[in-house]
Amino acid sequence: MDHSNMSGKNMETMNGHESHTNPLALNHSTGENELALPPLLEAKDGIFTITAQQGTSEIFKGINTETYGYNGSYLGPVIKINEGQKVTFKTNNQLSEPTTFHWHGVDIPGEGDGGPHHLLQPGDTKNVKFTVKQGASTLWFHPHPVGATAEQVYKGLAGLIYVEDEHSKKLGLPSEYGVNDFPLVFQDRKFDDNKQLNFKAAMNEDGTIGDTLLINGTVNPKLTVGKEKVRLRLLNGSNARNYTFKLNTGDSFQQIATDGGFLNKPISMNELSLTPGERAEIIIDFSKYNKSTDISLMNEEDIKLMPFNIVDKKSETSSDSLKNLNNYVVTDEERKLPVSKKLELFGMGKMVTINNKQFDMNRIDFTQKQGETEIWEIYNKPDMMGGMTHPFHIHGTQFKILSIDGKEPPTNEYGWKDTVAIDAGETVRLAVKFNNKGIYMFHCHILEHEENGMMGQVKVE
Ligand code: C2O
Ligand code: CU
Repeated sequence: MDHSNMSGKNMETMNGHESHTNPLALNHSTGENELALPPLLEAKDGIFTITAQQGTSEIFKGINTETYGYNGSYLGPVIKINEGQKVTFKTNNQLSEPTTFHWHGVDIPGEGDGGPHHLLQPGDTKNVKFTVKQGASTLWFHPHPVGATAEQVYKGLAGLIYVEDEHSKKLGLPSEYGVNDFPLVFQDRKFDDNKQLNFKAAMNEDGTIGDTLLINGTVNPKLTVGKEKVRLRLLNGSNARNYTFKLNTGDSFQQIATDGGFLNKPISMNELSLTPGERAEIIIDFSKYNKSTDISLMNEEDIKLMPFNIVDKKSETSSDSLKNLNNYVVTDEERKLPVSKKLELFGMGKMVTINNKQFDMNRIDFTQKQGETEIWEIYNKPDMMGGMTHPFHIHGTQFKILSIDGKEPPTNEYGWKDTVAIDAGETVRLAVKFNNKGIYMFHCHILEHEENGMMGQVKVE
């Protein structure tokens, strides 16, 4: 799949509509600021307090930018939970507008999902309780109120959730937080002359696109690493921009995880594309480089996203052999199941639909039985101008990609997913099972498409 730009690959040849194929380019990182590390939130008793609040952030030296954050002024903590643990998220809305707390990728009963039905008014609190029923993975959370999701995320509301399990602790993967295991939340933003976040000014036809990259809220970031294997947990936290990550050296790296957990074995990659909402974990081996090596994480079109600064340190945990990371399997039964749900994604800009409909909170589009696997077939119907890639996301579940245009998915997508990039003209089949009951959203994760109605609801009973 080619997710390397905002829109269908045919667009330029079909009508020369350049602004659509070339959204605002990102600026190169000058690498003058050390990457910020979100605080790690752990709780033996499983009780976490998460407050949505407004504040100011010093993104540019000496300047206060008005932002939103969880338990802070921009982004949120990394919430660390364990498989089997009983957790309580004590959510608290200290914003001056309604919001919700949505747990993206979490296998959670519908009433705790934090979709558009679960609005917290200013000052409201809500306790979300559930037992962690999934294995090691890098998930995330963000708001989901109808009409304000995109802008609230844009202002800074997003955080990561790390799920750990017993198996993953034994793998010898780099796992020292902030030492050889780093979260990287990628967001493009546009700042006005006063260095304030300007959502409206960043609005393009298909969503907000910025020229300034923030990683973990840091502008012009660099990352200091040791001469060792380093694990990076990547989240495309942008509203609408796709990224294709690679190294300036052209060297390969290992992908070890998809949205919802480890791949069975590391996959060697030269570049890796993530559409909004998708995550991946990669391992870069810095032991073969030295202090003077010029090595940077790049985006397509050779834009420097983040230089690495290599120092002579090595942490205790070192991973030699990485294999048998997971036992993900697509079964013959799943392959033989007939398609039972058909979805057609269509449109661009404001005219975006699923099965020719726009979101209606009072309409249930599908029902599905709890614990039963169904095959969802999703077709991204091109339009006269070619169409574009839509990252399709389903709440409350991790699904399996069975096929893309009838073919096996690439090896780095042979693993648990909750968001799948579907290019114009493509048909993707998913095996979808919900472990819990409730009402769940499915939608395009270009947040402005979601906002414009590219969303539906499935009721699990
Ligand atoms: Cu990440 Cu419905 O969302
Ligand atoms: Cu879309």
